[in-house]
Amino acid sequence: MVEPALDEELAIGMNAEKSDGIKAVLITEEQIQTAIRDIAAELDEACGGETPLMVGVLTGAVTFMADLMRAMRSHVQIDFMAVSSYGDETSSSGVVRILKDLNQDIANRHVIVVEDIVDSGLTLQYLLDNLRRRDPARISVVALLRKVKADAIDVQVDRVGFDIPDEFVVGYGLDYAGRYRNLPYIGVLNEDVVQKS
Ligand code: IMP
Repeated sequence: MVEPALDEELAIGMNAEKSDGIKAVLITEEQIQTAIRDIAAELDEACGGETPLMVGVLTGAVTFMADLMRAMRSHVQIDFMAVSSYGDETSSSGVVRILKDLNQDIANRHVIVVEDIVDSGLTLQYLLDNLRRRDPARISVVALLRKVKADAIDVQVDRVGFDIPDEFVVGYGLDYAGRYRNLPYIGVLNEDVVQKS
């Protein structure tokens, strides 16, 4: 796994307009795409010819899911769930509500949950408890990012792209107040962007 390191030079000049408010690039586009190729190869191996159902958690996981499924050689089917976790703009409270459920039954299916980021782990834990009650054959969990924090709960994550410091990050699907999702890299926001809004 590549150790993420803040690169302030890269944040300047890269997609200048979209990057406004970004203090530093934490994970470059190239590092993300390399990690995705590795994860896809491992998932292909684990699928062993079966067709899994990839479940993307809206909205942040859309970018990761789109790249990950195209990097896989196996047949896959996809579906999405949307959950809202009550909390402020930069932290979740663990109280979760399903806003959009799956379109299909997952009984006896191999389900691959695709998450953008595991922070406290509360959202994922709620989601997994919910999905496990539907009798899938098995559930694998892939997360692009996981924050390293002492008080995170112990939740199932089978494969992580990058363990990152406990900072608020945006880009590659992740937003702050609805913006920055279309950055091709993961960046750290300037403190004044968070304070101003
Ligand atoms: P958790 O329940 O604390 O693990 O938070 C999970 C959800 O919070 C993620 O799926 C994101 O939508 C959001 N989130 C947590 N940390 C960040 C961050 O650093 N940037 C953007 N969104 C985040």
